[in-house]
Amino acid sequence: MQKIFLGSDHGGFELRNTLKQYLQQTRKDIEIEDMGVPEEISVDYPDYALKVVKKVLKAEDHLGILVCGTGIGMSMMANRFKKIRAALVHNEFTAQMAKQHNNANILCLGARTTEAELAKKLVDIWLDSEFEAGRHTRRIAKLDDFLG
Ligand code: RB5
Repeated sequence: MQKIFLGSDHGGFELRNTLKQYLQQTRKDIEIEDMGVPEEISVDYPDYALKVVKKVLKAEDHLGILVCGTGIGMSMMANRFKKIRAALVHNEFTAQMAKQHNNANILCLGARTTEAELAKKLVDIWLDSEFEAGRHTRRIAKLDDFLG
């Protein structure tokens, strides 16, 4: 069964819970695992990005959703890891491209920039879009192979 790992700091706590409930209700074919933060206390977003990254790297079809205030810190941390392609999205078009062109395996959202109904829609678009492969396979291989 495909798995999605959710993580947030305090800034993304409420939206992460909303998305967890939404996914549990609407995606019976996907296992949803919540990596915290377990309560709304001030924490450091890199710690929660790391928890999700470690899980996503365990299997090809594992995905992650990371939420902080802006989504910026989460995406910065997640993209430090080889084979993580984390996309911070704000609208329908970027959510669609994140899968079609970048095959993002982590979606990052900002709880202070994106209201809950739009966030649900963006998650759906990302999950339901297909990676277009072709020339994009070569391009993401260059990302995945990059050692810095
Ligand atoms: C926490 O206040 C905030 O900095 C964090 O949630 C996030 O927006 C960082 O990028």
